[in-house]
Amino acid sequence: MSEPFLRSLFGLEGKVAVVTGGSGALGAAMAQGLARAGARVAILARRLEGANAAAAVIKAAGGDALALSADVRDRAQVEYACTAILQHWERIDILVNAAGGNMPGAILAPDASLLELDPEAFRAVVDLNLIGTLLPSLVFGAAMIAAGGQGVIINISSMAAQRPLTRAAGYSAAKAAVDNLTRWMAVELERRYGPGLRVNAIAPGFFIGEQNRSLLLGPDGSLTPRGASVIAHTPAGRFGVPDDLAATLIWLCGPGAAFVNGVVVPVDGGFSAWSGV
Ligand SMILES: NC(=O)c1ccc[n+]([C@@H]2O[C@H](COP(=O)([O-])OP(=O)(O)OC[C@H]3O[C@@H](n4cnc5c(N)ncnc54)[C@H](OP(=O)(O)O)[C@@H]3O)[C@@H](O)[C@H]2O)c1
Repeated sequence: MSEPFLRSLFGLEGKVAVVTGGSGALGAAMAQGLARAGARVAILARRLEGANAAAAVIKAAGGDALALSADVRDRAQVEYACTAILQHWERIDILVNAAGGNMPGAILAPDASLLELDPEAFRAVVDLNLIGTLLPSLVFGAAMIAAGGQGVIINISSMAAQRPLTRAAGYSAAKAAVDNLTRWMAVELERRYGPGLRVNAIAPGFFIGEQNRSLLLGPDGSLTPRGASVIAHTPAGRFGVPDDLAATLIWLCGPGAAFVNGVVVPVDGGFSAWSGV
């Protein structure tokens, strides 16, 4: 296959991408994937040192990156970051909402009753995953609209969205809402502002990250009972590795996906397709 043809489908040269949570296990790999496809990448996280480290990896590989501190639950901070990116690169083409995850207080202990669910922890995990997706979408979406209605938003969902995970009520509910918001915003943006604006989501399967490592792996790296159950229900027979996400992300962001809007793509080694029988 010729290189110009591939570039016409997947090339991101000249584009500016923003990755919230771009210093995390999956966010950093997605940011690197976008950079390798030609995009300049702004990394957003609360802790600037983490964002700087992720940006440094991209720069060391010959890419262009910018690190910014912002809390995705705080509209003023996201707007400040948006202004800084526009001042630096004068455009924003891609937003990846990767900031998110579960929180220790929002996970029920293995033997706990659902009546012990902490509503405040539930609220906090919804705030991070749902409101933390909505606010950047509004802020960076406004910049895309102001620039003539060109842009792509990618939300990061989870296997928990379609079938809730045991012990993870708030996270499951929040990610289900992220799927719903993806479809709603896809339709609203495209109908109101034209076909240059698209919103899709990626639903990663089970990847080892800092948040779920102790749930899935023991201190010696062996599988916990929960980790073994995940592997037993994953036809690929393994956990995902962050680089598994790059190809799907680049496809959804690229010009070849111009007619793909409002979908949630699982990247899960077959987990969501398998009934277990
Ligand atoms: N790992 C998995 O197996 C898996 C599976 C399915 C879906 N996901 C989803 O994939 C996304 C990334 O997961 P991950 O495993 O890469 O997470 P991670 O390694 O814990 O990274 C989380 C990232 O989000 C940032 N962040 C957290 N809270 C933030 C806030 N309030 N404002 C701005 N940034 C914030 C963190 O940086 P700071 O702490 O410096 O802010 C970090 O960059 C999440 O949405 C998660 O739910 C993960």
